[in-house]
Amino acid sequence: MSATTTSSERFWEPHYQKVEQSWGTRPNAALAAAIDDLSTVPARALDLGCGHGGDALWLASNDWQVTAVDVSTTAVARVTETAQRGELGKRVTAIQQDLANGLPSGPFELVYASYFHTPVAIDRDAIIGRAAGLLAPHGFLVAVDHASSAPWSWGDPNQTFPSAHETLTRFGCGEGLRVVRAETTWREAAGPGGQRAKVADNIMVAQRV
Ligand SMILES: C[S@@+](CC[C@H](N)C(=O)[O-])C[C@H]1O[C@@H](n2cnc3c(N)ncnc32)[C@H](O)[C@@H]1O
Repeated sequence: MSATTTSSERFWEPHYQKVEQSWGTRPNAALAAAIDDLSTVPARALDLGCGHGGDALWLASNDWQVTAVDVSTTAVARVTETAQRGELGKRVTAIQQDLANGLPSGPFELVYASYFHTPVAIDRDAIIGRAAGLLAPHGFLVAVDHASSAPWSWGDPNQTFPSAHETLTRFGCGEGLRVVRAETTWREAAGPGGQRAKVADNIMVAQRV
C-alpha cells in the first residue's frame, strides 16, 4: 500500500486477501427480489461497495451494463476475472476506488448498495446520497442495509438501527426522489462459518422523478 492508501483500503484490502473468493459471490436475495419487482428495462447500473461482485455479476447476466466499485484491489480483480470467465467481461467494469473520495461519472438507471457498511469512519449515507444524484430521470436507487446485528458481525450486538424511512432521509436525497419502498424484512442467514441466524434487512427503493 502506498502513502495515499486510505483508511478504508487499509481495512478492506487485508480482509479480502484473507477471505475465500467463494464468500459473497451469489447475488443478495433481497436485492435480486427488489430489482425483479421493479420490472425495469436493463440499462446502466452502479454498484457501491461491490465486494466479490455477486450482485454485479447477477445484474450483468440479466443484461445490465454494470459499473462495480470497491475500495479493495483484490475484490475488484476477482470481479473482473469472474466476469471474464463467465463471458460477462463486456458488461461489467470493476473499478478500485475509495467512494469517500469520488464517484464514477453517471448517469445510471440504477444505483444500488447492498450492505454498504464499514467500521471505518466515512459518511456512507452522504456517499449513497451523492450517488443517487447520478440517477437518470426515472432511475432507481435500491439500498439493502442490515437492520439487526448478526452474531458473526463486527458491530455492537446491542446496536440499534434506523428504520428504512429514517435511512432514506439520512441519504439526504430530498426532493426529486419518490419513495417506492421502505421496509424491514427478516430472513434466515448463514455466516462465514456456516452458522445460521434470523437477521433483519432494511430495504429501500426510491425513484428519480
Ligand atoms: C459489507 S461489504 C458488502 C459487499 C457486497 N456489497 C455484498 O453485499 O456482499 C462492504 C463493501 O464495501 C466496500 N467499501 C467499504 N468502504 C468503501 C469505500 N470507502 N469505498 C469503496 N468501497 C468501500 C468494502 O470493501 C466491502 O466490499
